[in-house]
Amino acid sequence: MRLAVNIDHIATLRQARKAKEPEPVSAEQAGAHGIVCHLRSDRRHIQERDLVLLRQVIKTKLNLEMAATPEMLAIARKVKPDVVSLVPESPNELTTQGGLDVIRHRNHLAQFIPQLQKAGIRVSIFVDPNEEQIKECRALGLDLIEINTGKYAEAEKTKEREKALAEIKTGARLAEEIGLEVHAGHGLDYYNILPIVEISQIKEFSIGFAIIARAVMVGLAQAIKEMLALVEK
Ligand code: PXP
Repeated sequence: MRLAVNIDHIATLRQARKAKEPEPVSAEQAGAHGIVCHLRSDRRHIQERDLVLLRQVIKTKLNLEMAATPEMLAIARKVKPDVVSLVPESPNELTTQGGLDVIRHRNHLAQFIPQLQKAGIRVSIFVDPNEEQIKECRALGLDLIEINTGKYAEAEKTKEREKALAEIKTGARLAEEIGLEVHAGHGLDYYNILPIVEISQIKEFSIGFAIIARAVMVGLAQAIKEMLALVEK
């Protein structure tokens, strides 16, 4: 099992001050199996220069999350990430809302995906754990999907969470059976990951917010210690 770390919110912190740090490109050195970033059309966190630098520096695997738009297609073909994960994107969302509806966007995706594949980029789709949606991903010529764990992560009631977990299990099994490599992510954190880790079909996790949020807290003591040493000099 692999852990790919989404570094968008390192850039969120930098963009809050339009400063030069923290620098997202340093993240791989901490031991992730891959780095994920989402270049949004509003550029609220990751910038194109981040993507270019990440491509130059990353030795593991660079996964670019993006909307299936002409602008993003041109950028992806230029930068050539190892993987492109197609996600839905709407202007005022705080984070990605649900999987991409591959059935609704079938015609558009059928002409969009091959253009990435021809550029040597592996394509994945962020998809809800739903039988028809998963089968359509295979029909579109994919060998990789990322199952959306958001509904599971957000469920407040036990019954709701158990149902969402069962859907992920069923979806992961079906996906593997029909020849898809299965990744999973969204909303996973230190409290809810263990039942997901037990799903043997899932080969990679894509986790961002929880890791960056925790990094701030576990890193704070060290950061304060270093500044205290300077001011007490
Ligand atoms: N997977 C996809 C497709 C996403 O859009 C995101 C959020 O950018 C993640 C995984 C990571 O979600 P989180 O930041 O909640 O861990």
